[in-house]
Amino acid sequence: KMMDQLFGMHRLEKRLADHFGIARCVISTGDSDRQRKIIEEFGDYLNEALDFLLPEGNNIIAAMGGTTMAIVAERLTNLESEKRHNLFVPARGGIGEAVNLQANSVSSVMAMRANGDYRALYVPEQLSPATYRSLLQEPSILEVLNLISHANCVIHSIGRALHMAARRKMSEEEILMLKQKNAVAESFGYFFNENGEVIYKVPKIGIELNELQDVPVILAVAGGKSKAKAIKAYMKNAPKQTWLITDEAAANEILKGA
Ligand code: F6P
Repeated sequence: KMMDQLFGMHRLEKRLADHFGIARCVISTGDSDRQRKIIEEFGDYLNEALDFLLPEGNNIIAAMGGTTMAIVAERLTNLESEKRHNLFVPARGGIGEAVNLQANSVSSVMAMRANGDYRALYVPEQLSPATYRSLLQEPSILEVLNLISHANCVIHSIGRALHMAARRKMSEEEILMLKQKNAVAESFGYFFNENGEVIYKVPKIGIELNELQDVPVILAVAGGKSKAKAIKAYMKNAPKQTWLITDEAAANEILKGA
């Protein structure tokens, strides 16, 4: 019976990866909307994936923020060895999240758990364009931006567009615009419509969507029936090397009628 379930899950993983045309899907049983422990399981799969996909060398791992990322970060285990050293950096400068959900916090927790190093990116929100430009001249900031642009691994989540807009306290005009353009998904500070087309970008520093194409290892972690539409939209144009760690509830909803 257990073997049947295992093979059933493998079939679902294969079907979902083929559906999106991405490298791999890993699926947990259940619905992470209902059970936090499933997000912790995503973290265990993420840990295994990092171990498997980055077996050696000096890796630069760029991580995004959010509640999913904050939970999975806690699940990493020692990934250092004689052959491998990991440096964790935030993928994009603070995009309006609460402190514990920011990419800075997530990468520091990941580094702590995995025994790696980390660098923070200190760029406050709401700066005047002039201050912003001069901050970008700061050597300490340039150094981290340079590391981010050389990341060989990116870990991110995917959110629902309007939910993310509200959480980031975006203006009413912006929210109206997102609605008019039928935004359904958000990732990396970009908003996407159902066809996976970018309809808006939050102006922040760090990884740009077009740079993702050249990143060898990309791990997306997002689950729950409520995120099915968002995951589906983002995955339409996701880089082909992407691995998606998700759950049965999202997978079944996505493949419904496919
Ligand atoms: O704000 C960072 C971020 O990774 C977004 O890009 C993404 O939409 C969101 O967090 C996901 O948040 P959560 O895991 O809380 O759903």
